[in-house]
Amino acid sequence: MKTDLFSIDLIRELQKPEYSGVRAEFTEKSFLRNVLIFPPDDRAGQVFIVKKGRVRVYLAFEDKEFSLAILKKGDIYSTHTRAYVTTLDDTVLLVMPTAKFHRFMILHPVFSRTVMGIFGELLKQSFSIITSLVFKDVTQRLAEFLLYEARSHGRPEDGGVSLTIDLTMEQLAAVVGSSRQTASTLINEMIRAGVLVKRSRRELFLPRLELLKDFSMGEGHDVYASKERRKMA
Ligand code: HEM
Repeated sequence: MKTDLFSIDLIRELQKPEYSGVRAEFTEKSFLRNVLIFPPDDRAGQVFIVKKGRVRVYLAFEDKEFSLAILKKGDIYSTHTRAYVTTLDDTVLLVMPTAKFHRFMILHPVFSRTVMGIFGELLKQSFSIITSLVFKDVTQRLAEFLLYEARSHGRPEDGGVSLTIDLTMEQLAAVVGSSRQTASTLINEMIRAGVLVKRSRRELFLPRLELLKDFSMGEGHDVYASKERRKMA
């Protein structure tokens, strides 16, 4: 599982001279952290780019949440989807009505090509999420999430990797599609097994990445995995 959605940094992309007309049409809006900024199916219909901070995009049903992505600087999304959008940090967005954005796509083929690339990444991530939820259990999803974070944002140290995970246990559970209790139990099991060292609330150390891969295949975790499989079914 991964929370990164896009590899294209649109803030950097918009600095190119060919996008000067598009750039000027976005409105800058600031939000405090931990605030729901867009409800699902926001009919006002806006496209937004993250200029600063992070926002979480997630689906919610009754008391369950599932995170689709954590957007960071340069990522784009829209408000006309079934997802909720909540800030994780103090955040600045560049916002534009969807209809206006659509007109720019028609007028600027070069911009359209970039946006098509973005839609491709959105589709790719949707396939990854479906594959993870249908074919993998929660232990594998958690291990994959930590491996992805370690490889993309980790800092090599003493043959292992140190890592900052700036998410609460609830938010981490929503990323891997489990309850808070299950995510917490699995993290504690990883710590006991020596796969993970918790240095502080946000700082982790993974002594050997291959231990994490082995852990996700381990026998001792089936009890949580099968419970979760039943929940997701
Ligand atoms: C990069 C910007 C955009 C992103 C990331 C985006 C993303 C999405 C997503 C994820 C959905 C599925 C929503 C759901 O079923 O929950 C959707 C639906 C849709 N989008 Fe976009 N969109 C973008 C721009 C646009 C633009 C420019 C238009 C053109 C006017 C557009 C028109 C639509 C329409 C018509 C639907 C179907 C809505 C419905 O079923 O009610 N989108 N979009």
